Amino acid sequence: MFFYYSGTGNSYAAASVLGDCCALTDIMACMDKGEFSFSLEEGESVGFACPVCNGGIPKLAADFFRQLRFDRQPAYLYLVLTYSDHWGNAAVHFASLLSEAGLELDAFYAVPMPENNVIEHVILPEEERDAVYERAEELLKEIARRIDAKEKNPAFCEPGYKDAEAKYSAYLDMCHTSHFHVDDQCVSCGICATRCPYHSIRLIDGVPTWIKDECTLCMGCMRCGAIHYDEATIGKKRYTHPLLKKGGHNHAGHSQAGGHAHS
Ligand SMILES: Cc1cc2nc3c(=O)[nH]c(=O)nc-3n(C[C@H](O)[C@H](O)[C@H](O)COP(=O)(O)O)c2cc1C
Repeated sequence: MFFYYSGTGNSYAAASVLGDCCALTDIMACMDKGEFSFSLEEGESVGFACPVCNGGIPKLAADFFRQLRFDRQPAYLYLVLTYSDHWGNAAVHFASLLSEAGLELDAFYAVPMPENNVIEHVILPEEERDAVYERAEELLKEIARRIDAKEKNPAFCEPGYKDAEAKYSAYLDMCHTSHFHVDDQCVSCGICATRCPYHSIRLIDGVPTWIKDECTLCMGCMRCGAIHYDEATIGKKRYTHPLLKKGGHNHAGHSQAGGHAHS
């Protein structure tokens, strides 16, 4: 089994390479259905792909991992983090969420991908992204080999990473939809509403309207440039992985991807 959570497509792209052949399971869809219990075949491995948020696991994914249950211990349980420059404490965070169900992380892998956090960073220009994708693809091939060999790599905090708790708590404080607004560039396409994992956005008279406060700061709703987080994103380029632009993963319809099994 391979679970993934992705706001802007990087982790979905990683999952599409590594989760090959076993159907990918979209964590957003599981959250929608309230599906947290899964049966495993004997000897079955379980993989996860997920972004890093302020050195930890994104809020929505953390809610899922806390409730996740299997009917037996996976043969090999591994995490693949996508991140821009510091994975921080995310592997330790993940391991601690799973330990509540008595699940043990065997290995984690971290793959640098383009930054998607338009609130706090400048997004890499499109023409400079290919080099990052190419390096990520090479690394993912290497990771696939390490997964096949069931390498052990227990969770640890990135050396030199400081104030993990304070940084993660600052992220949680930012997860409120009251910060968002839409400008007059909006064309009422409704993609923002389909991308919101908490279904917090509804088009009312063609205008994206935040109907709930729940947000995991995935950046999925901000892909078009008409939606802003306070004043922080005005005039800034947005980020979406090309695989999402092609429509490979849509929260409304959920994902399809084939591939390569790691059992
Ligand atoms: C709110 C937020 C916080 C982030 N924090 C970090 C971080 O602490 N370290 C890091 O390297 N990348 C950080 N990122 C970047 C993402 O982890 C990275 O771009 C990831 O590949 C996005 O995956 P996705 O496209 O699957 O959502 C952050 C992104 C967001 C939106």
